[in-house]
Amino acid sequence: MVPAYIPNPVAALCGGGTPIDFCRNYTDGRRILGNGKTYRGLICGVLAGVLIGLVQIWLVGTYHWDLPRQTILSVTLLALGALLGDMGKSFIKRRLGKERGEAWPVADQYDLVVGAFLLTVIFDPAWFFAVVTLPVLIAILVITPVLHRSVNILGYWIKVKKEPW
Ligand code: CTP
Ligand code: MG
Repeated sequence: MVPAYIPNPVAALCGGGTPIDFCRNYTDGRRILGNGKTYRGLICGVLAGVLIGLVQIWLVGTYHWDLPRQTILSVTLLALGALLGDMGKSFIKRRLGKERGEAWPVADQYDLVVGAFLLTVIFDPAWFFAVVTLPVLIAILVITPVLHRSVNILGYWIKVKKEPW
């Protein structure tokens, strides 16, 4: 999950500039995604996730670290899926009338898991079902909200994030 966990904090660090929705509104008169989703955040986040995945592949190949077998495809799907999940969540948030940055418990924590799982299941199901076994799934469901909250509080302290969630 590391290639899926990295993109969000990196997007928060380097995000800004042109919003992915180009400031356009949806049919309901509200923003499609909002100013919290930018091209710079998306690109830097995905690149960082893929980069960390390549390091994992290198550690397994060179030092025989006992990590799940990643491939360039799996790390790309995990990193891209994490931020697509985040965008999907923002899209639904805006439809529900929630402002950018407003907390949406559960969805804010698990959006990246849903996105990363969806992309890997669709485009690399063999990898998904070999790696994401029931105990792994349970571990992910337990670890993700704890990690999410901790990193966001840290981001709030160092003034990278406007809200501690
Ligand atoms: N970010 C970005 N591009 C992305 C994702 C995130 O630039 N694709 C940056 C934005 O600066 C954003 C910050 O990371 O404000 C934190 O991300 P997140 O909490 O997901 O966004 P919110 O601002 O809370 O917006 P939303 O309510 O839509 O989730
Ligand atoms: Mg947020």
